[in-house]
Order: sequence, then structure tokens, then C-alpha cells
Amino acid sequence: MERILIGDSSEILIGRGWPSEIVPPSSHRTRLALITQAGASAWADEVATCLAGIDVEMHIIPDGEGAKTLEAVADVYEWLASIGLGRTDTIVAVGGGAATDSGGFIAATWMRGVEVVYVPTTLLGAVDAAIGGKTGINVGGKNLVGVFRHPSRVVVNVDILAALPDRLLSQGAAEIIKVGLLAEPWIVDDYRQHGLGVDLERIVTAAIAVKAGIVERDFTEQGARGLLNLGHTIGHGVEFGAGIPHGEAVAIGLV
Ligand code: GLY
Repeated sequence: MERILIGDSSEILIGRGWPSEIVPPSSHRTRLALITQAGASAWADEVATCLAGIDVEMHIIPDGEGAKTLEAVADVYEWLASIGLGRTDTIVAVGGGAATDSGGFIAATWMRGVEVVYVPTTLLGAVDAAIGGKTGINVGGKNLVGVFRHPSRVVVNVDILAALPDRLLSQGAAEIIKVGLLAEPWIVDDYRQHGLGVDLERIVTAAIAVKAGIVERDFTEQGARGLLNLGHTIGHGVEFGAGIPHGEAVAIGLV
């Protein structure tokens, strides 16, 4: 497995299959709260199986941006209270970018902050939303409420990403090509040559490494992190104006 560190307390593990431990070791943890979306629940079941021996509780949140409403977040808080998730316990968010954005926000605010681990199940989520510690929910506008806070670990299982349909692979490719244009031109050449048949493990690792490096320099987006918004100004306009998926709008923005 590739291991990329952001600071000294947030790590990203990338590889085929699952790492030997999905959550970092902790002698104080008594249970895990697994938050997932219906479309990712098969992966969440696999994660729960890997976590055998730990008390795991699972909760399904709404699909897509529906996970990022105050109502959906309040439902999760009520559930966390009902299972007694304590300050030394851990939340694991399994799903696309909305699941990790929302799970990260919930973890940052539950009992003033508990550990969170992300398992992204979309390419877009794996290379962008799950990396860099931006959490957010939509109140009055997209991501207007949130905090900067890193997960303790991000587990990127490339087998999950490789099994995605082409449309989701294309959406993730837009964010990866963005990184290629910013820092690793060979990524753009690889996509030109191989299309969606690129070596996903190599390219995902490279894209995450670039983003991690930028985030290390500028966690709270005072300067350099703004580079990651390449293609996003027009992209966001197209996304909300035309109601198309984020990755497709970013692709148009990049062009
Ligand atoms: N999605 C851009 C960033 O994380 O800064």
C-alpha cells in the first residue's frame, strides 16, 4: 500500500484491497459509528466485516447532496446519542464526497470533535473531497457551513474505484486531469493515450500526492490551495445552472 502523510496525524492509504487495519489503533476506542449511503452500503458491509472484533454500528444517510442538509445531520446526531458514541470513539464515513463531507462535519462537531476515518467509494471523492480536511454541509448555499479538520486516515481501495461505471470514472478524471494540468503533465498525457483505461492506482496516488502537498502548504486556503479551484469558477456556474454532476461541470470549466 502507498502511504501519504499530511502533517503527522493524517494518513492516506492507497492500494488494491483493504489494509490490514482500516482504522488506526487506539486503546481508548469502545465503538465505531459507520455512516454510509445506500449506494455504498455493500462496501460499508465489507468494511464492517474487516472491523470484526470492534463494536460497529451502521447508519444509512440520504444519497448525494441529501446527506448534507441540517436535517440529515441532526438525524445522525440523534443516532449517535442513541448508541452512546463517546469522545474516544470513531466515526467511519463510507461513500462519495457528500458522505465524507457530511461525516467529517459530524465528527468535527460531535462532542466537540471525535476521530473520523474516510473510505471514499467514488473516484472524485477519493482524489478530491476526502483529501485535505474540508468538511461541509449546505445551509444557505453549498458548503457554507463546515470546518477544516483532517480525518485521521483515508483508505482508498482502488478495487472499488476500478469497478465504477465509466460515467463516474469520467467525473473523477476531470479532477485528476486538473491536478495533471497544475503539476503532473504526464497525467494528462496518460489520459490522452489510454482514456479511462489509465493505471488507476498510479494516477490516483499521484493526484492525491499533489493535493496533499498543496494542502500541507496552505491548509485553510489563504493562497496556494486556491490552485485546486482551477476550472471550478465556471464549473460551479455550469453545475448549478445546468444541474449536471460536479465532475462533468469541472471538465467544462477546465476546457
Ligand atoms: N476541492 C478543493 C479543495 O479541497 O481545496
